[in-house]
Amino acid sequence: MSEIQEFSELIVSHSNADMDSLAAMAAANKLYPAAKLVFPDSPDSSVQEFITLHGGWLHIYQTKEIPLEKVKKLIIVDTREARRLGDLRELTEKQGVEIHVYDHHPTTYRDIVGDYNYIKQAGSTTTILMELIREKNLPIATYEATLFLTGIYVDTGSLSFPTTTPADLNAAAWLLEKGGDLKIVSDILNRPLSPLQRDLLKELILSGSFSQIEGHEILITKASIPYYTSDVSLLTQRILDLEKVHAVFSLIQMQKKIFLIGRSTLSAIDVSEICEEFGGGGHQTAASASLKGENLEKVEEKLIHVLKQKIKPSLMTQNTPQNLQKPILTVTLKIEDWRKVPEEILKLLKKTGEIAAEQNLNLFAAGGFVRDLLLGIKNLDLDLVVEGDSISFSKKLAETFNAHLKIHEPFKTAVLILPDRLRIDLAAARAESYARPAALPEVVGTTLKQDLTRRDFTINAMAVKLNPNDFGKLIDFFGGQRDLQHGMIRVLHNSSFSDDPTRIFRAVRYEQRYGFRMDPHTEKLLKEGVQSKVILKLSSDRIRNEMILLLSEKNPAPAIQRMGKLKILQLLHPSLKLSGTTLQLLEQIPETFTHYTEKLQGEKFDPWIVYALALFSELTSSEIEELLIKYRFTLKASQKVGFMKTNWHLLIHELSHSDPMEPSEISKKMQGISLEGILFFMAYSKNPFLKERLEQYLLKYKNAKLLISGEDLKKIGLKPGPVYREWFEKVKKEQLDGNLQTREQALEFLRRSLS
Ligand code: CTP
Repeated sequence: MSEIQEFSELIVSHSNADMDSLAAMAAANKLYPAAKLVFPDSPDSSVQEFITLHGGWLHIYQTKEIPLEKVKKLIIVDTREARRLGDLRELTEKQGVEIHVYDHHPTTYRDIVGDYNYIKQAGSTTTILMELIREKNLPIATYEATLFLTGIYVDTGSLSFPTTTPADLNAAAWLLEKGGDLKIVSDILNRPLSPLQRDLLKELILSGSFSQIEGHEILITKASIPYYTSDVSLLTQRILDLEKVHAVFSLIQMQKKIFLIGRSTLSAIDVSEICEEFGGGGHQTAASASLKGENLEKVEEKLIHVLKQKIKPSLMTQNTPQNLQKPILTVTLKIEDWRKVPEEILKLLKKTGEIAAEQNLNLFAAGGFVRDLLLGIKNLDLDLVVEGDSISFSKKLAETFNAHLKIHEPFKTAVLILPDRLRIDLAAARAESYARPAALPEVVGTTLKQDLTRRDFTINAMAVKLNPNDFGKLIDFFGGQRDLQHGMIRVLHNSSFSDDPTRIFRAVRYEQRYGFRMDPHTEKLLKEGVQSKVILKLSSDRIRNEMILLLSEKNPAPAIQRMGKLKILQLLHPSLKLSGTTLQLLEQIPETFTHYTEKLQGEKFDPWIVYALALFSELTSSEIEELLIKYRFTLKASQKVGFMKTNWHLLIHELSHSDPMEPSEISKKMQGISLEGILFFMAYSKNPFLKERLEQYLLKYKNAKLLISGEDLKKIGLKPGPVYREWFEKVKKEQLDGNLQTREQALEFLRRSLS
């Protein structure tokens, strides 16, 4: 055979060839036996592995080995896009080259129209070539059958993707008859990931940002890696298999290129249409694009914009009985999940469920209670949701538990306070206008879903059913359990922060409380909210409450620091910037609490005020005054903070020097400083003299009981009046300084002084 003939016919597939491309090329080779097979660039790693392990009989050329000028016929399989042919593209534009196309992709305006076109809808290109091979009665060997079978299985997700057609199953059945080896097929399908792929998969999962678009759950994952790897679509597919969402998009920056890979499980989300907007293509369920010289954030923004335009609404979002939607996850909680719930609360929950069932209502525990239940953290705030008439139900509950009931009619909510002070918040998910078939325990009414959809974060938007038949059934529409496992704070929709800006505080609070973090999309939305100052739309009272809640966390320092980094503090007041000193001080406070709580013997204080003092410690007195007024702090709180407006630095200075100081002098200086103030000083102080004096004052002098009473002064013959106070102070001074130990000594002192 002459050299001219050798390269006159080429069979080619698309760049980054996959198993269907390889199988289709080999299948086409049976129709064009003189043709050479060529890859436009390196194929994906499954193809490389298949060739190494099972494809010794295949000979595939690289583009650079081909004398392009000698090519007379180009057979293109598994694509119709010239730009996916690499350098072989020029052959499609050259005079005198005959083009034959075999493809199963949907038609687009960019398609090459060949001299011969065989285009059919099927799950794989291999399938349509099998039909031709069978028609022509061409013999195939068992190793060929295995390759073809692999192509079909990979492209149809083992015959499970919605794009799978009867022709795929027919072809697969025929190939099995021809000796195709399913063991090899499954080895290729279930190849373990390489360490690099595993790292990348982890990065993608961690970056995952979930959103609801037109009622569908969409996951966008992102990663940036310093090397190039060809096999990334496999990872997107794995994520789709792992996460129960309707579509996954991965954006992967590799050196100067960004790859967009889309995988979808629904026809309403046509990923090929979406990838086309980025110059790519593929199928309805699997598509990709590659972009050069773009920025990852910009591409993500555009992707979200395109998704909103292209994704079609879900029928499920319409509130009709036919569309009662099954939650994404329903599992019944195991006994051990209830371990942190005290016995009596568990009993109470069961009882409330029974009462609901008697009234033919569905009852759920929801929100933070469920979140903490799953985290194994004790939470005694019961947040119940009842589907139906909450008012009569709440009355029945109040009667049963002998609870105080407060009904808030317009919102159909009620609060019950039980005799042991336990609080139950009860909300009604509004009744449906149609009768729900009561005998369908699997089905959860859309009313509960509506209630949960209005909530802040996925981890707070789960419910547990309390009716006896389904007690403990977890209802998780938004992947809350998954986010708890991954430690993610994720909003349910994009306008969550603007709908309710207190969620900005809440996000930070949960993040730091549980050591979680916001998913990148949520953080982006939060930052946008901060930038547009939505917080300032809140009333002073709501902002103050959120500040107090944040400062009441067990260790609020990281949350305050995060508030500073996110520029939220500065929004509250421009002077609220966090210096290293303030931060250190905040971090010191928990230790101070641990050290003194027991010694204080039950003396009550407000921990949040101690943190507030630390936060205010670098402010001027007028700035503190401004804050207290602006956010309408209570008089009590303002009084406790009040000493901050005096020259407390001087006081600290005076208490710090080494000269001896009488206890009475220390007490006098400390007069008017709240217990919170003393604890703040304790955290603040490093000087040993100061520390010692503060401790003595706190534990000994402050609460020292006066040895004498007004009665004693009366008996001695003093007339009641302002003079009593002076004498009390005199005795107190002597008492503190150790000159008077007993009541007798004190009385003797009085008598002596008065004589
Ligand atoms: N919630 C919300 N948006 C808010 C406040 C509350 O969606 N701005 C919802 C959440 O589902 C939350 C529930 O209402 O779980 C109850 O709110 P709350 O009692 O403030 O919070 P908890 O979840 O109980 O959390 P915490 O432990 O901080 O009290």
